[in-house]
Order: sequence, then C-alpha cells, then structure tokens
Amino acid sequence: MSPPIKILSVFGTRPEAIKFFPLVHALERDERFDQRVCVSGQHRGMLDQVLEIADISPDHDLDLMQPDQTLDALTANLLTGIGKVLDEEKPDWVIVQGDTATAMSGALAAYYRKIPVAHVEAGLRSGNIHHPWPEEVNRKIVGSFAALHFAPTQTAAGALKREAVDPASIYVTGNTVIDALHWITEQIKQKPELATNLAELEQRFAGKRIIGVTSHRRENFGGGMEAIADAIRRIAARDDVAMIFPVHLNPNVRKVMTEELEGLDNVALIEPLDYPHFARLLDICTLMLTDSGGVQEEAPALGKPVLVMRETTERPEGVEAGTAKLVGTDADMIVSECNRLLDDQAAYDAMAQSHNPFGDGQAVGRIVEALAKN
Ligand code: UD1
Ligand code: UDP
Repeated sequence: MSPPIKILSVFGTRPEAIKFFPLVHALERDERFDQRVCVSGQHRGMLDQVLEIADISPDHDLDLMQPDQTLDALTANLLTGIGKVLDEEKPDWVIVQGDTATAMSGALAAYYRKIPVAHVEAGLRSGNIHHPWPEEVNRKIVGSFAALHFAPTQTAAGALKREAVDPASIYVTGNTVIDALHWITEQIKQKPELATNLAELEQRFAGKRIIGVTSHRRENFGGGMEAIADAIRRIAARDDVAMIFPVHLNPNVRKVMTEELEGLDNVALIEPLDYPHFARLLDICTLMLTDSGGVQEEAPALGKPVLVMRETTERPEGVEAGTAKLVGTDADMIVSECNRLLDDQAAYDAMAQSHNPFGDGQAVGRIVEALAKN
C-alpha cells in the first residue's frame, strides 16, 4: 500500500468549522490519509463552540483573534502563522473552505510553498466585489490557483468554468453544510439534552410565532446594521411575533443591536448559540431573517422561509428554489416582506417548501474520493 496522503486542513471561523467538521471526521477515519488540523483562531469563542460539539482537538491552534481585528492585520498574521505550520508539517495537500480571511491566507501560504490546494465550497460568485465584502474576492483568489475545486452546485461549477478553470479539476459535490446539518440532527435525536437551553424562551414566547435573526456582515456595518435594527424593532411591535436573535460577537454588531434593541419585550438578544441550539432555533422558527451565508443554505433544507438582508447573494439557488428572498437592508422593505409572510398564508406556504439545492448530505464522501484519486 502506498503511504498515506498527508493533508493539512485549515480553518478558523464558525461557518468554516461547521462546514469542515464532517470532512475532518471522514479524513480521520480513512487510512488513505494522514490528516493534521490547523485552526487559525480567527474566531475564538464561536470556533470553540463548534470544535467542542464536533469533538475536534486541533494539532495547531494559532489563537490569533484580536478584538475588532482589521482585515490587513488579520491577514498578515494568518499568512505568517499558517506559513510556519506548513514549514513544520510539509503536507502533500492543504484544504481550505469557503471565503474567509483564513481560507484565503491558508491557500496563499500553501501556494507560496508550491503545495497544492483543495478548495471546498468553490465557485460561489455574486459578481459584485463589494457584496459580500471581502469574501467575493477572497473566494476568487483561492479559485485562481486551487488544484481541486469542490463546487457545491452546478451553478458554482459553471462559474469556475467561465473563469477558465480546468474542468477536470472541478467536482460537483454538494455543500458539506448539509452533511453537518444531518449529523447534528442525528446527534440531537440521540441526545436531546444537547439542545434544551431554549426551553425558557420558548415558554416565554408561547403562542407567538418565532422569527430567528442573525446579522454580521461587514458590508452592512453602520447604516445597514442600523436599518436592520430599526426593522426588527418595528416587526417586534406586533404582539403575535417574537424574535430570537443570537448576536454575533463582533463588537460592530453588538454595539448597534444592544443600543437599539435591548429591553424590548418581543426581542430576545442572546449569546451566539452552539450548533445544536441553532438547529433547534431553525426548527422552531416560522421564518429566518438573516444576512448569513450558511443560514441561506440550511433553511431551504428545512423548508424555512429566509429573508436575506443583503443586496446580492452568491447563493442564488435558495432564491431560485423559492425558499429565500433578497430583501436588502432597507428597513421598509424588510418590514413589509416580513409582514407579508406573517399575514398571507399562501405567500408563506409557497416559500415554506423544503428543497435541497445545496446538497444531499453526501458531499464529504465525494470530496474524500476525489482527494484519494488525485
Ligand atoms: C468572519 C468572516 C466572514 C464570515 C464570518 C462568520 C472574514 C473576512 N470574514 O467575519 O466571511 O461570514 O466570520 O461569522 O474572514 N469575535 C469575537 N469572538 C468570536 C468571533 C468574533 O469576539 O468568536 C469578534 C472579535 O472582536 C473579532 C471580530 O468579532 O475581531 C471580527 O471577527 P472577524 O473574523 O474578523 O470577522 P467576522 O465579521 O466575524
Ligand atoms: N450558527 C450557529 N449559531 C448561531 C448562529 C449561526 O451555530 O448563533 C451557524 C449556522 O447554523 C450556520 C453558520 O453558523 O451553519 C453560519 O455562520 P455565520 O452566519 O457566522 O457565517 P456565514 O455563513 O455568513 O459565513
């Protein structure tokens, strides 16, 4: 038997960790691979929540998060930090996921050492370098030199081909977030105590329709965040709804949301939920109001309407499937679209269908086989 392929898996934020853990589990079990895990610690608390639930102990933890970090300082620290790990480990392949600073820097550090990069969740494009910012460009940078591109959908594969990426290096795999969602759902089924902490809120809001909210995008900082807060306050003035809003740890989000929304009867501003509890929130909510990428992918699988508080999306499949709708960051638009779903049953039912445009929960198997073949 040939020696195992040495892989360095690199990630650092909450969404990367959620989308990576099923792959880390699979590579760990597979004797064809010798995997090392490097976390950047771009996120600290929100990353650790995922590592704990997925039972992953990284081989390297760069622990480099700074409060209110700037993109340039973060990127500089990531490049040098991950570079050192690469020099020590000398992997055959580096795997990165998505479009974060960690993904872009991890890939670039590998490229500087002529180590081939495999890119999970490749090919998503909004076509607008300012939305999502800076993620559209981060993802394009990785796509410009990755040796393997794991595109979640045909649309993503098509975007890569239009950028003259070698079709033989592109695999349509589905998004690993659906694998993660299936795994966590099964865990909760086996151990319901993993997701019971929302019980008190569920009781407090009994009889009301729950709207789940998340918001964190850098391009929405300032006016966008204030408009989102204004919309939430106006929607929460209805006595038949309650909003559960796990507030991202980014200080630019927390400042606005606490100043604008703290103390409102129908709004629960809570700490970021771990993944089982967020899955519970997705389960009990009537709809989601979000600017998150991952939530746009999870909600259609669960048949939960999502109003996407962004100008554009690099995940058009949810909109095409009819479960997601772009509402931008105009407060009037957010309020009116939300009220329409709450007051018009036909409009609600049309969006509340479950679809799997992002995958069937088997993405990891396809990725592992493609890695083994290459
Ligand atoms: C990052 C990603 C974004 C992703 C988001 C997911 C980049 C450029 N952005 O944005 O693509 O959608 O993560 O959530 O990579 N913080 C904490 N504890 C944490 C996490 C964050 O305190 O566990 C605070 C820190 O003050 C930190 C700040 O949030 O400096 C910003 O974190 P950062 O990763 O730079 O940006 P995000 O907005 O989280
Ligand atoms: N999520 C979570 N707890 C929360 C909010 C979100 O576990 O309080 C999960 C969610 O299920 C999804 C992922 O985090 O899988 C999305 O992360 P985020 O919105 O931070 O980043 P994005 O997907 O926009 O890059």
